[in-house]
Amino acid sequence: MATDFLTKMFGLDGQVAVVVGASGVLGGAIAEGLASAGATVVVSGLNAQRGESRAERITSAGGKAAFIAADTLSRDSLAQLRDQCLEKFGRVDMLVNCAGVNSSVPYEEITDEDWQRVLDTNLTGTHLACQAFAPTMSAQEQGGAILNIGSVTAHLPLSRVFAYSASKAAVDNLTKNLAREYATQGVRFNTLCPGFFPAEQNRKILDKERVDNIIGQTPMARFGEPEELVGASILLLSQAAGSFITGATVYVDGGFTAMRF
Ligand SMILES: NC(=O)c1ccc[n+]([C@@H]2O[C@H](COP(=O)([O-])OP(=O)(O)OC[C@H]3O[C@@H](n4cnc5c(N)ncnc54)[C@H](O)[C@@H]3O)[C@@H](O)[C@H]2O)c1
Repeated sequence: MATDFLTKMFGLDGQVAVVVGASGVLGGAIAEGLASAGATVVVSGLNAQRGESRAERITSAGGKAAFIAADTLSRDSLAQLRDQCLEKFGRVDMLVNCAGVNSSVPYEEITDEDWQRVLDTNLTGTHLACQAFAPTMSAQEQGGAILNIGSVTAHLPLSRVFAYSASKAAVDNLTKNLAREYATQGVRFNTLCPGFFPAEQNRKILDKERVDNIIGQTPMARFGEPEELVGASILLLSQAAGSFITGATVYVDGGFTAMRF
């Protein structure tokens, strides 16, 4: 009885999810979680070797996955990703925009190139992917759901990560605007804001002083584990469980934002 209910609410059998940036730490965990819930997962990103091995990990655990390369900085590449998904699987129900880069320097030292690189990947990349997929989802009978990845820094600007914080604030703003735009057109948009999860893009930033500060300001007094993003992702992406959730910003941060708000 409970199992039937949970399957109906959170099961993703027969649905197709594209996770851009699934070659990374958080995107990889979300991709594996969606596959465990039954979705066919398109693992996407720049790094073919890591993407292929993530897709293999999913299939060898009994899930359904395929790697399709894409660069979120290229409109053409994203259109090819969408078209290949449709050709291969016939539908796209979910998109997770998990590609991202970071940069950590004092404000005076930010170069134009670095500022642009972070804004381009985190903000423009998210926008281009939404633009590539939302109209297709809207045209499908079953609609679709898009999950963009923000950060606690979107609303609590963090020292040394100026471009990153600004890009994540803009991602959340864009997500809410698209939620409004597509609210009656079958596509839901939400932002998932992770707290602190050690990964590649922030390894250089996490020196001892910063680690102590972060843990000291996280009520649960620890970093997150990537798998801890899966539950909230499924809730926001599932058309059954999340049917009336759009334009939401959901924090998975061990209480970090609760300390300040
Ligand atoms: N790790 C954290 O604590 C944390 C916290 C908040 C938000 N985030 C966000 O979560 C997302 C995932 O980050 P992560 O921690 O897993 O980092 P990660 O570096 O492990 O993964 C990022 C992935 O994005 C891919 N990527 C970069 N540029 C790309 C492009 N142009 N096209 C396609 N793919 C591209 C990289 O190849 C990499 O696989 C990012 O948006 C990041 O800002 C991370």
